[in-house]
Amino acid sequence: MDLKQLNAFIAVADLRSFSAAAAKTGLSQPSLSRLLKQLETDMGVVLIDRYHRPLNLTEAGSFFYDKISTILTEIDTVTSMTQRLSAPSSALNIGFVPSVLYGLLPEIIATLKQFSPDIDVNLKDISSYQQMDALKSGEIDIGFGRFAHQDPWIQQILLRHERYVVALPKSHPLANVRKQRLIDLANNRLILYHQTHLPVSSTVTTEIVTQASDELSASTVNRATHETSLSSEAITEPLLHLFAQYGISPFMTTTVSDLQVALGLVAAGEGITLVPASLQTVRTEQISYQRLIHENVTSPIYLHTLKDFVHPNIPDLLTAIYHVYEQRGITYRQQNFVSQA
Ligand code: BEZ
Repeated sequence: MDLKQLNAFIAVADLRSFSAAAAKTGLSQPSLSRLLKQLETDMGVVLIDRYHRPLNLTEAGSFFYDKISTILTEIDTVTSMTQRLSAPSSALNIGFVPSVLYGLLPEIIATLKQFSPDIDVNLKDISSYQQMDALKSGEIDIGFGRFAHQDPWIQQILLRHERYVVALPKSHPLANVRKQRLIDLANNRLILYHQTHLPVSSTVTTEIVTQASDELSASTVNRATHETSLSSEAITEPLLHLFAQYGISPFMTTTVSDLQVALGLVAAGEGITLVPASLQTVRTEQISYQRLIHENVTSPIYLHTLKDFVHPNIPDLLTAIYHVYEQRGITYRQQNFVSQA
């Protein structure tokens, strides 16, 4: 069994067609068929049901596909990491979710450039989940997101919790009410905008609530965890999940593609939403931002990087982040990386 055979099998399994797989791999169709036949003969197992169109995998083939595609992705990751270890890129490639760009990211980059004037930084707008693959492929060296990820290749540092604020149209009856309660917002149309949802499994959901409540008292964490299993087990949309922790289900929702669109709809009087506090400078002519009384309605900010390869400039970036936090009086708990190249 060799890599050529395995890659040929994955291409056919993905595309369910010998001709499409041949075009994708750059092999001729007879060579591709030969590689697959050799693989099946070596294993003594039929992987592909050739008698139906489109092609199907046999039961054994499906099992093999699931397992072997994970292994091939790992081989790609290890290859790319080894290349980066031997010659780290001179530029620091940073992935971020849009909400951190409105917050401290520009100031953190400016501080990093003061500490290391020669540094070359590339910024890439990329969702939390996509950051995991982008880290493994080497597209980015570090990612800032708002969700915890359990991945054997990735290490994460919880930087801080940022409070959510409610964004209401200026004409809304609650627009000038300070310290709002979620229950008082339940009769509004809630605009949802998250691209990444919480994991479905209740164990992981509970874990995320616990992580998100890291800085709260034990009793608050227990309450949140308990109510999660009772009322929000299957609610994976992050804003609905926050409401569900208080046993509230907003009476109407609208889902849009991103945060900017959500705030545009609020500005147009189409509903309300919750956004991390650093967004409260956006569209202030039409939108009123108010704090919530609930201290645990927060959005965490995570730093993600590979476990086995930390780009040489990342420790300086972490120093710049903590420097900005100190200058602004932001509470944080200092953490470090597991390993540094
Ligand atoms: C922050 O707002 O804490 C933050 C934003 C971007 C990168 C790191 C931290």
